[in-house]
Amino acid sequence: MRFDRVVKGGNVVTPAGAFVGDVGITGEKIAALGTDLDATGAQVVDARGHHVLPGVLDVHVHLALPFMGAVSADDYVSGTRAGARGGVTTLIDFAIPYKGDSLSAAVDNWHKKAEGNALFDYTFHVCVTRWNEHKDQIRGMVDRGFTTFKEFMIYASEGWQADDRAMYGTLEKMREYGTMLLVHAESARVLDELIERHHTPEMMKKYGARLHPMTRPNFIEAEAIQRAVQWSEATGGQLYIVHMSTGEGADIIKAAQARGVPVIAETCVQYLVLDDSVFDREDGHLFACCPQVKKPKDVERLWKGLKSGEVSVVSTDTCTFNCEQKAMWKGDWTKIPMGLPGLETLLPLAYTRGVLEGRLTLDEMCAKLSTNPAKIMGLYPRKGAIQVGADADLAIIHPATKHTVVPSQMETNADWSPYDGWDLAGFARTTISRGEVIVSDYKVVGRQGRGQWLPRTFAGLEGTTGEMSAMRLSRGPLSPLRLEDLKAAGIA
Ligand code: URP
Ligand code: ZN
Ligand code: ZN
Repeated sequence: MRFDRVVKGGNVVTPAGAFVGDVGITGEKIAALGTDLDATGAQVVDARGHHVLPGVLDVHVHLALPFMGAVSADDYVSGTRAGARGGVTTLIDFAIPYKGDSLSAAVDNWHKKAEGNALFDYTFHVCVTRWNEHKDQIRGMVDRGFTTFKEFMIYASEGWQADDRAMYGTLEKMREYGTMLLVHAESARVLDELIERHHTPEMMKKYGARLHPMTRPNFIEAEAIQRAVQWSEATGGQLYIVHMSTGEGADIIKAAQARGVPVIAETCVQYLVLDDSVFDREDGHLFACCPQVKKPKDVERLWKGLKSGEVSVVSTDTCTFNCEQKAMWKGDWTKIPMGLPGLETLLPLAYTRGVLEGRLTLDEMCAKLSTNPAKIMGLYPRKGAIQVGADADLAIIHPATKHTVVPSQMETNADWSPYDGWDLAGFARTTISRGEVIVSDYKVVGRQGRGQWLPRTFAGLEGTTGEMSAMRLSRGPLSPLRLEDLKAAGIA
């Protein structure tokens, strides 16, 4: 068999396990896997001494989002360049209707942001923000190739907040159409009450950004997750909790899955590597995001949830604001544009803190960053795994070489990083998207605008109960992979 490109001699991570060998690529697809593929006439990518991983799917991203009086600073150019450096080859953004917009208009608007700018492939979740107007438009969006919908339980001031009626009604439709509802779960009424109580000049002066975690105790997320789970249980509609940040949330999801509720949970990498001590820093306001990072015990519980299966996906919730935008708070923590940069550091953080520190095996990490998100979002088997017939989307990383996070040297438009000065392994030496090299020797070389929109026909784990769904997702073998093991295998 003739190939256009052969990735040679790496530790190739596939759904069936890892092997040291080659990936043969023809056109945009993986054409063969083997130990000694014939590379005659093909371009060779030397992967010896490296891991060859499936390209990462970051399924929770906000690029160029107008939000809280600012527009998020990473757009489809900088955002996808940043992602590519971190081995991301697919992203899913959120198409949010502006005032008066239909769902269709929101999607058209997001297409305009992405087309001609994206370096790799993308699609959108469609946000249902005004139930009465939008409910009859959902079917049409499914027909246009959009199978994931989103509702926010907060953000009334943005005009985005959905109530229980909307969630219940949308979940009924998700069940009917074989599609999935994503929910931002925070309990708006009690949250608003707590914000109002703490929103005094004296308290803002005394506590500054520390008021952010003070107004969002864990029960704010837990109650909302519980309620959304209740509506999923009542309707049978597939539910996906985005950016879960609390241990209580993980407990609720585990219990719901055990009794067969079709609910899936995502956490974000910041909830795995940061805790709320960041708000004590002088620049603590920079770290403001919704929900905020929580306590070390939550961090520990979320890692455990990834290992045991109730947490299925790790994403970033990238919503970048630079220092000037964050400075809009002027001491009032309710005015900080909420969100963090993330696409560039997802894989490096998950690999360094997860795999190298023994919290996840390499296979488990690939399940949470690639295979599970692809399956859940209706993009598998085209995306999410190294297997014959799939798109040739690969992230090639050195097992041990670390790079220091220096914001000025990164592709993101953020002029700061939550991980400034951290030494991280797992930046992509080479990223391949649909057979094309887009990152080489850690530098972006791909052509902006080559990224394609990905149509879908389903989402969630149709026809299975929560417990079964969790089992259908990849967890990977349970043996921890450490540097010693890599050295013994001759690849570190
Ligand atoms: O703080 C965040 N997460 N900003 C983006 C909007 C959202 O809630 O995901
Ligand atoms: Zn959110
Ligand atoms: Zn978000």
